Amino acid sequence: MSRRIMIGGIALGVPDFRPHAKRFVDGAARGVHQRLMPGAALRRRVNGKVVLITGASSGIGAGVAHKLAEAGATVLLTARSADALEDLAEKIRDNGGEAVAYRADIADLDDCDRLCQKVLEDHGRVDILINNAGRSIRRSVVYSLDRFHDYQRTMQLNYFGAIRLAMNLIPAMKAQGDGHIINVTTVGVFNGVPRFSAYLGSKCALEGWTMAAQNELLHTGISFTLMNYPLVRTPMIAPTKIYDYFPAMSPEKAVDWMCEAIVTRPKRKVTAFGLFSQGMYTVLPKTAELIVNTGYQIVPEFFGKEKKGSEGKSSLASDETGSNVQPLRRRK
Ligand SMILES: NC(=O)c1ccc[n+]([C@@H]2O[C@H](COP(=O)([O-])OP(=O)(O)OC[C@H]3O[C@@H](n4cnc5c(N)ncnc54)[C@H](OP(=O)(O)O)[C@@H]3O)[C@@H](O)[C@H]2O)c1
Repeated sequence: MSRRIMIGGIALGVPDFRPHAKRFVDGAARGVHQRLMPGAALRRRVNGKVVLITGASSGIGAGVAHKLAEAGATVLLTARSADALEDLAEKIRDNGGEAVAYRADIADLDDCDRLCQKVLEDHGRVDILINNAGRSIRRSVVYSLDRFHDYQRTMQLNYFGAIRLAMNLIPAMKAQGDGHIINVTTVGVFNGVPRFSAYLGSKCALEGWTMAAQNELLHTGISFTLMNYPLVRTPMIAPTKIYDYFPAMSPEKAVDWMCEAIVTRPKRKVTAFGLFSQGMYTVLPKTAELIVNTGYQIVPEFFGKEKKGSEGKSSLASDETGSNVQPLRRRK
């Protein structure tokens, strides 16, 4: 807010609507381009741009890194697993792309600061930040009563780490008059999916921060996108054996989703099921709860072998082992 006028002794800001008009026109053009020629639209959007991707050593983050580098972006890969990052960076460079690995623990705020300082020193700018690193914990509230640290560690990575990176990079994005911060969350925030209270709490916090930040920074050229992914078949869900029997988005589709969001910069990307869940909770909240609670009672806390060695085994109720469940079909 650069200009101010005095009214009744109060200095009020004069709103600048030009960035909104530009966003509207650019958004329409990008949307058409994406629809007609998604590959070219992605190249046009990211060629020569610097993209910082957290959680790049695995799953969605690794796939996105490949695709963006192919489209001409310089991808800065970060995660804790240095070897996996180096392997990925090398593969990308072998394919003619530009990639640099930066090991960092995003749950450590000092590491977040150090990472941002280093990438700005090395590259001078970050055009797109993808806050994708995440930790998920599947455990009911009743089994978490003596596990407050579950809530602290999901918040530390999924919320505090993500916003720390954004807060480090916002000044540079503001100075360059352009930036895109993509925060990865989940469709679960719309229906309060049972057994994920720690995970959902952290992702809802991230959603709240993102919406407020977007409302404050819209006129500066910085845009924010929330990615409400459904279940995606990545290493994150592999330990939860029951998900072998659930429908899940393929990692390839999840990567395409992210690339589309990079081009079109929507406020959020969500499935039809996510919108339906949101609608149900708004219009018929008690019916929605009844359906979700029924599912919770049917699905066991632990599933077959998962029970053994699980962190939550000490608090597993004997009638909820779920070892007698005979699924009809296992999904690939
Ligand atoms: N898979 C799903 O069903 C699903 C659904 C909705 C939303 N999501 C979200 O999608 C995002 C990506 O998940 P994914 O499915 O691709 O999972 P993934 O394959 O398990 O990848 C998670 C990534 O996060 C990194 N990470 C974890 N802890 C970290 C830490 N302390 N510091 C830095 N990096 C850390 C991991 O690398 P290191 O271990 O090497 O650090 C890894 O690269 C997450 O935010 C997740 O919440 C996933």
